[in-house]
Amino acid sequence: MIDFTDPAFVEDPYQDLAELRKFGKPIWHEELQMFLAACHGDANDVFRNKSLGRIFKERTPEFEWETFNWLHSDSILDSEPPKHTRLRALVAKAFNRNKIEGMRPAIERITNQLLDSIDEKVQSGENFDLIADYAEPLPVKIIADLLGFPDSEEHLLRPWSQAIVKMYEVNPSQQYQLEAKKAAGEFAAYVRDLAVFRKTNPGSDLITDLAMVEENGEKLNSHELVATCVLLLNAGHEASVNAFGNGMVAALKRPDQRELLKQKPEEITATALEEFMRFDAPLHLFERTATVDTYVGGVKIEAGQKIAALIGAANRDENIFAQPNEMDLTRDPNPHIGFGAGIHFCLGAPLARLEMGVSLPALWKKYPTMELAGQPVRRPTFVLRGYESVAISV
Ligand code: HEM
Repeated sequence: MIDFTDPAFVEDPYQDLAELRKFGKPIWHEELQMFLAACHGDANDVFRNKSLGRIFKERTPEFEWETFNWLHSDSILDSEPPKHTRLRALVAKAFNRNKIEGMRPAIERITNQLLDSIDEKVQSGENFDLIADYAEPLPVKIIADLLGFPDSEEHLLRPWSQAIVKMYEVNPSQQYQLEAKKAAGEFAAYVRDLAVFRKTNPGSDLITDLAMVEENGEKLNSHELVATCVLLLNAGHEASVNAFGNGMVAALKRPDQRELLKQKPEEITATALEEFMRFDAPLHLFERTATVDTYVGGVKIEAGQKIAALIGAANRDENIFAQPNEMDLTRDPNPHIGFGAGIHFCLGAPLARLEMGVSLPALWKKYPTMELAGQPVRRPTFVLRGYESVAISV
């Protein structure tokens, strides 16, 4: 059975994931003590099945993990109805399509600033780093602006977030655990102080809006407020960085796809960014726990048992996608499940699409002759799949 921590698997998981799909139904993984749903239909069912919940299991000892635990159990992502319905409703308005479309000018402005900085490197004959110079700062700045996280402190976000999300990997190391506990404590305290400050010094941002809701009624308690902000700050950039990086590296390695981006970057963007999401998924595994006995793909999942949706495997299902192992930036329709499905469907999908929709053609218009300069460096993680750095020459 798959070893999710094997470096060779992490380097290229798709062959092993294809083997899993051959079973045609969810398969029990003894070491992880959960079923794995690798086929598209089964993974989709895992997200939609109302008898399967996102049940956060508190880490122990409780005194060490206290903040980390409530940052999760009180967040939108890790709660179920009716709490999930209440929390999601409080922030959903900020993420509706019209509100997000209104952010286009800000996204364009930041994109242009980043391109100007890159151009300084290019003009002096240097390569640039697709991740650190472009894919990462855009979503970080946008989600920080949306929440009202101060510009001067933005550099804190990525390290805190990175430390916390490493806990979502299979079997996180002792070192990852220590870092996650520390980051959770610091991040929560920072957001708590910011929310307190915003109550008396309101801004036009989401932390102010949520702080007022906490103040005025019983709709949001103090932990829920902080947990929701931390989730948005993390979820608001982690996957976006990797979706862009993974897609770009794959496209740059394929001359025909690179040519498409070079020749008609704007025309192709809408289908290209969906294919980026499908071809090399930025998020691979999401767990659910059965609240009562239920079935997925004909397999019985008993109450209390766990099952994971394997997004990257589902997105290469040969029964759904023609030539699934080929990147095709014109693929349409493209029913990938990169943003999940059901009640936890990604709240930020319109924002992620808009960010990529602006930044992808802008980069190709500016540098149509872009090429990989050397071997991109992968992060050694499977669940959050992405690159550490990607050197580009022009
Ligand atoms: C390419 C980028 C992104 C990808 C691939 C992605 C993917 C996902 C997936 C798969 C889920 C469902 C998890 C589950 O069902 O267990 C999810 C949920 C969520 N995402 Fe995203 N996401 C992205 C960008 C964003 C952005 C920009 C935000 C902005 C705030 C965001 C906020 C959220 C939130 C709040 C949830 C939880 C929704 C709920 O539980 O009701 N995501 N995302």
